[in-house]
Amino acid sequence: DGEMVCLSLKRRMNSGLASEKSGYQHFMLKEIFEQPTAIRRLLDRFDWSLRSDYVDLSATKIVGMGSAFYAAQCFAGLCKVLDIAPPQVLLAADCVPIDFDRAEVCVAVSQSGETFDTLAAVRLAKKLDLPVMSFVNREGSALGQISDAVFLLYAGPERAVASTKSFVAQVVCLCLGLLPLSVARRMFSVLAELPVLIESLLFAAEKNIRPWIALLKSEQHLYILGRGMLSLIAAEMALKCKEVAYVHAEAIHAADFKHGPLALVEQGTPVIMLLADDMWLEHNLLTLHELHGRGAQVFVAAE
Ligand code: F6R
Repeated sequence: DGEMVCLSLKRRMNSGLASEKSGYQHFMLKEIFEQPTAIRRLLDRFDWSLRSDYVDLSATKIVGMGSAFYAAQCFAGLCKVLDIAPPQVLLAADCVPIDFDRAEVCVAVSQSGETFDTLAAVRLAKKLDLPVMSFVNREGSALGQISDAVFLLYAGPERAVASTKSFVAQVVCLCLGLLPLSVARRMFSVLAELPVLIESLLFAAEKNIRPWIALLKSEQHLYILGRGMLSLIAAEMALKCKEVAYVHAEAIHAADFKHGPLALVEQGTPVIMLLADDMWLEHNLLTLHELHGRGAQVFVAAE
């Protein structure tokens, strides 16, 4: 069927670029552990000369699919945290001319640069005379060729198909490429600490996440809750669970969870809760309490 062709095409596009597993059991694991290197490389090679001094984010439309769409949403979420009017993020497949009304620039995000729906949205934007900036991992991609400016992600090949390194590289690159220049430069020094943070997280995850696997591996359904930025991360996590572990995972906003979906929770229902030490902590802890009360198996990933 169509999906099979898609996967094999992606694999072929990347073949020969990173054929070594370098001692890892499989490419997925290797690529997860390559995230710090990918970010270092991106920070080293980021092309500041492509930057304009100021991009009016409130007149910017970002398009993408799958993980690229979630990465763009995370960027928009970060803008809000920074008190900057965010861009509108559109699922490329749904774009129609009215979506680009009053837009000044179209930004496309993609790992491969070959995704049909993303290319179609970009072609539509070009037809409407909008300049197109793309944030793409693969050099020489179709998307790059039709864009007016191309920011490369330098994440390296994604042999395991699921955009792992690219997701984080997309968020970082969008920050460097689109935030007001002075903010982006300040952000650069904060981002320089990211590889070490990811390294320690990966190191801790080896120890802390493994016990979850034994408990979760036979589950068919899984809910992932988060609020604010973490609701966006939950969406990306759920996508990866479906795509890679073949588990039906659903990301639900932690506050919205109580407005209906809570009815699905019964004894033993697995729920992953993402918690940050933020203004919603108290509220989230109450939800956690409620989940416990209903007998859910709760897994907490906390800041
Ligand atoms: C997620 C995944 C897909 C892609 C989507 C967009 O792991 O592989 O959801 O993110 O197909 O692909 P690109 O980024 O190549 O445009």
